[in-house]
Amino acid sequence: MSVTSLLADLRSAVPLVGPSLLACDFANLEQEVRRVEQAGAKILHLDIMDGHFVPNLSFGIPILEAVRRVTDLPLDVHLMIAEPDRYIKPFRKAGADMITFHVETVQNPRELLDEIHSLGAAAGVALNPPAPVDDVENCLDLCDLVLVMSVMAGFGGQEFMPVALEKLRRLRALAGPDVLLSVDGGINQDTIGPCAEAGANLFVAGSAVFSTDNYRRTIEELTSLAKSCKDIQV
Ligand code: DX5
Ligand code: ZN
Repeated sequence: MSVTSLLADLRSAVPLVGPSLLACDFANLEQEVRRVEQAGAKILHLDIMDGHFVPNLSFGIPILEAVRRVTDLPLDVHLMIAEPDRYIKPFRKAGADMITFHVETVQNPRELLDEIHSLGAAAGVALNPPAPVDDVENCLDLCDLVLVMSVMAGFGGQEFMPVALEKLRRLRALAGPDVLLSVDGGINQDTIGPCAEAGANLFVAGSAVFSTDNYRRTIEELTSLAKSCKDIQV
């Protein structure tokens, strides 16, 4: 599928909840992917950590390839790694449809966004809570997705940091209506509404989904909370 039609499909389906596989049962990876797919997820979020840019290790290319083999859902790959430019090609080859790197890890985000596009994937930048919106302002025209971290990148299960809300508002105003504005970290039934109201339309949720026994009910509940806040705003 081309990037243009992938993005058109995703935009027409917002608000989207993107389950983060970091919180799934890795001993049953295939089953977990199928369960969230059957529960109505339209996109999957994969967290890649290098123990260097973030103080934790998660998984890498073989797991991405394995997920790719068992689903056709768009794979939204969140690189929390130093020197992401060295790994864009292998991640794309392994099946990433969307590749997001941290603005803190590169000198020239525009170059890397161009490279991701040249490989046929959608491209995004992420910002940790201390990074100001100004750091991405000069590359927003090349971003299909902007990911606002609402926890310090590195671990699932952390508490939502409200500093994300102001950044979402400003980014939505700067980037316009078409960009996918994603928020990641501590998203649950209490925090998703304010994020939707602030302009987010892609909600990454790890523990909120995988710690429940009914994924469909959780995804539907989160989606409807995001929708109702958006409706209030409009
Ligand atoms: C954290 C990751 C998140 C993580 C979110 O660094 O980027 O995607 O899985 O986990 P929860 O939803 O549990 O905060
Ligand atoms: Zn993530």
